[in-house]
Amino acid sequence: MTATLVTGIGELVTNDPKRGEGSLLGIERDAAVVVDGDRVAWVGAASDAPDADERLDVEGRCVVPGFVDSHTHLVFAGERSAEFAVRMAGESYTGGGIATTVAATRAASDEQLRQNARRLLAEMVASGTTTVEIKSGYGLTVDDEARILRIAREFTAETTFLGAHVVPPEYEDAREDYVELVTGSMLEACAPHARWVDVFCDAGAFDEGEARRVLQAGMEAGLLPRLHGNQLAEGPGVRLGVEVGAASVDHCTHLTDRDVEALAGSDVVATLLPGADFSTRAPYADARRLIDAGVPVALATDCNPGSSFVTSMGWCIALAVRELGMTPAEALYAATAGGARALRRDDIGSIVDGASADLVVLDAPNHVHLAYRPGAPLVRAVWRRGSLVYRHESV
Ligand code: NIG
Ligand code: FE
Repeated sequence: MTATLVTGIGELVTNDPKRGEGSLLGIERDAAVVVDGDRVAWVGAASDAPDADERLDVEGRCVVPGFVDSHTHLVFAGERSAEFAVRMAGESYTGGGIATTVAATRAASDEQLRQNARRLLAEMVASGTTTVEIKSGYGLTVDDEARILRIAREFTAETTFLGAHVVPPEYEDAREDYVELVTGSMLEACAPHARWVDVFCDAGAFDEGEARRVLQAGMEAGLLPRLHGNQLAEGPGVRLGVEVGAASVDHCTHLTDRDVEALAGSDVVATLLPGADFSTRAPYADARRLIDAGVPVALATDCNPGSSFVTSMGWCIALAVRELGMTPAEALYAATAGGARALRRDDIGSIVDGASADLVVLDAPNHVHLAYRPGAPLVRAVWRRGSLVYRHESV
């Protein structure tokens, strides 16, 4: 295996609480990192760095852990820009457009779905994402949900069964039958291709009782629970997530004080999706309130063609700083270590000895530039599991 010394790092964000004098990001200045195979083998001051087979000087730039995008719906067909335009003219988001994507996805070939996901994933990698979670949820038949998860597995181990996204049109008058299908033969076909089970528990989607059945059935089949909740209105999503021990409740746009207390007294991560709040013209989730109450927070893109056609975690960080009340350090932590926690992973989201070598070089002197220069293409190079997977053409 070749060991590479990355040196000349002006600011290194490690997310290691033992470094950086107790600061959230564990920042080391004038630092170096040794990457050996797919792992980080050494972290410290550039002046103390050991020898390595190869050496790369990043000339004072900032290096951060690869972003962990813990919530996406990447396997789908079609797009819904017309729906977005109508929304920006004043109409509200109800989730009704999901059926449009379901129809397009069912009609698409495996290769079309694969190519669309690959194209979006390339955008994500170029913007610094090194781990991505992918949900099903645009098939809503046994065969289509299973094929979406099979395709998702080609890209990531973090796959999520979301057969309970909405009740599909053909079950409109038979929702009980659909819940039976999701918790029965659909789950059986999908569980081998998934790590997680998810449900959209919200106004117009699945109610508390239905959502509980979906999550419990998934857990009995060996999947770990997470859910979409409190996106469209206040409701039972958060409390159900706490009850079943979900890794994360995602959206959390509309929370009562009781919800915040329930999250604070649990191990559940609140995953905030500012791209969805932006693209549905919803109020932004209140990260400040959650962080001040002691709730662990993650940021993710929610990439999907309806509510958030967003691939850039950097842009989510900028929105989170401007609109969700986060500091630049909190937002970067949420997009890296927070996402790792939401996926219950301790090998990603930080730059420490033994961690997966997921590193992003920014053309910036420090991490604040992620929010300070929104929209600028700051990512110069990306290593995923020790392999250089993206290099900006100017490098
Ligand atoms: O996370 N909330 C439910 N599902 C997606 C939106 C899906 C769609 O509109 O196509 C979300 O926002
Ligand atoms: Fe989502």
